[in-house]
Amino acid sequence: MTMAHDASADIEMHQLPLDLRRGDHTVRLRHLASDDGNALLDFGRRQPDEDLLFQERDITNVADIGDWIHETEAGRIRSVVAEENGEIIGYATIERGRLRWTRHVAEIRVMVDVGARRLGLGHIMLGLAFESALSDDVAKIIAQMTPDQVGARKIFERLGFVEDAVLTRHVASADGELHDLLVMRFDTKQRMICKECGQAVLTLIPMQGKQLCWACYEILDHELGAG
Ligand SMILES: CC(C)(COP(=O)(O)OP(=O)(O)OC[C@H]1O[C@@H](n2cnc3c(N)ncnc32)[C@H](O)[C@@H]1OP(=O)(O)O)[C@@H](O)C(=O)NCCC(=O)NCCS
Repeated sequence: MTMAHDASADIEMHQLPLDLRRGDHTVRLRHLASDDGNALLDFGRRQPDEDLLFQERDITNVADIGDWIHETEAGRIRSVVAEENGEIIGYATIERGRLRWTRHVAEIRVMVDVGARRLGLGHIMLGLAFESALSDDVAKIIAQMTPDQVGARKIFERLGFVEDAVLTRHVASADGELHDLLVMRFDTKQRMICKECGQAVLTLIPMQGKQLCWACYEILDHELGAG
């Protein structure tokens, strides 16, 4: 059985499935399952058109969802979903570049149900996907979004992502209108390794002559306090 988890940081893939409390909501974070097709389709069909526009797959379409599940099962995509009362209310994916010359690039996608936004779920799932992408041997992590997606920009910037490019008039919506596409990037050479546990992190905290990640810092701090 999983314990409800209040903290938003430091959740790692190997801890899934995990129940998370956000206000009145208890949300289960877990890996995508092979029988999630209908729940994903329901999720996709609840989202506004402008948020679906920039998705590589049409998540309102059965065939595209089937392809996504198949790619996840084959290990080419890592997919995490957030579930509440049997409904999928968000997801994050990590996908390596499929072309020979983009194998060093991983792309993260994150989406939260319009009815479950501003609860911190986007930030949590992105953090999970980001840590997982960092542990891969990639040189660059990217995310694509609409330039006016304030929330999306904010959660990526908080992790150290910066603007890589704005491709003007790059995306056509169903009505024929053209939209700009913002690409954000994180160069993984920015990451640092905790000397204690080997975890890749953005910042290290010095303690007792060691450079530690936040989790190891807390453990050592606790041990020293107890001693
Ligand atoms: C981007 C997205 C995943 C954020 O999900 P979320 O669960 O609402 O995000 P969080 O609740 O974790 O919010 C994280 C921060 O962004 C801020 N934020 C979120 N949405 C915001 C908005 N519309 N305007 C301003 N700030 C916003 C929150 O206030 C929070 O900051 P805070 O902790 O200082 O309050 C969600 O808006 C979404 O699914 N958008 C459509 C898909 C998309 O654009 N994905 C990103 C590209 S892959």
